[in-house]
Amino acid sequence: MAEIDTSLLQPDRPGLARAAALLSAGGLVGFATETVYGLGADATDDRAVARVFAAKGRPSFNPLIVHVPDLTAAARIAVIDGAALMLAQAFWPGPLTLVLPLRPDSGVSQLVTAGLDTVAVRVPASALARELLMLAGVPVAAPSANPSGRVSPTTAAHVMDGLSGRIDAVLDGGACGVGVESTIVGFDPVPTLLRPGGLPAETIVACLGAPLALPAQNGAITAPGQLTSHYAPRGTVRLNADRAEPGETLLGFGSVTAPLNLSPGGDLTEAAANLFAHLRALDAMGATRIAVSPIPQTGLGLAINDRLTRAAAPRRG
Ligand code: TXA
Ligand code: MG
Repeated sequence: MAEIDTSLLQPDRPGLARAAALLSAGGLVGFATETVYGLGADATDDRAVARVFAAKGRPSFNPLIVHVPDLTAAARIAVIDGAALMLAQAFWPGPLTLVLPLRPDSGVSQLVTAGLDTVAVRVPASALARELLMLAGVPVAAPSANPSGRVSPTTAAHVMDGLSGRIDAVLDGGACGVGVESTIVGFDPVPTLLRPGGLPAETIVACLGAPLALPAQNGAITAPGQLTSHYAPRGTVRLNADRAEPGETLLGFGSVTAPLNLSPGGDLTEAAANLFAHLRALDAMGATRIAVSPIPQTGLGLAINDRLTRAAAPRRG
């Protein structure tokens, strides 16, 4: 692939206009959401979507999330009723992705859905992202803006690090507030937690007034991470470590002494926001063996432990 001169766009009128124009013209634009940076492309443009997979080096059987500015736009591409409508009304805009029946006339490229008859849809909370989606006027397919298998980006500099030369632009929206990817819920037929993420599962359960099912482990790819070694830093990762062994670098949580701590005060929201930047910082420090303090399995802890477990999984090589 020929190198592209990737421009860093400012979050102002001209920057937004340029980013939207690039998207409408089939370009690839990294943009901030409240969770992580997405690598956006016009979801109705096969060539643009194919370029996303090429830029990320992503296996094409892994489908993408479509980003829209509001519920009305979501209803143009997917069928939203019942429990799905209740969750959309309660939590959009926000860090929640719903896997919904695809409308036959949606115009969404089959590369986005990997040929499934469902589509993953999300309305991001970030004001900048929603302005961009409104200006672009097309549904925007956007995986996290990192090379496949690597840690998701939470700043524009992270996106540049991984994808500079392979994408058209990055719209700089500063650091992402949530820091882990959206929670993914499917309905087949009951509400099912396909990926823990930025919206705590407990919050969704409280809204539904019913438990969330967990996906059947039947080998089908329904959510990320069935691919081993997703979200990986370069160093190896050992979880639930009370201390670092010789040769290990401790990634702390709570009141432990560590070169890097996700949240010294033990706050899971702060820990989620720091997670990916700290994993990158450990790479930059040259940490080859990373030990991680125990993280409580509640609230955003589910998403943090999910990403760390994948980081600790055997590597694909
Ligand atoms: O917070 C986020 O969700 C970020 C930002 C950019 O919005 N995006 C993100 O996208 O994390 P990505 O591609 O890294 O993860 C999306 C996952 C896919 O790996 C896929 O497994 C799942 O969503 N997915 C997409 N379409 C699906 C479908 N039709 N059925 C089941 N799972 C689907
Ligand atoms: Mg990703």
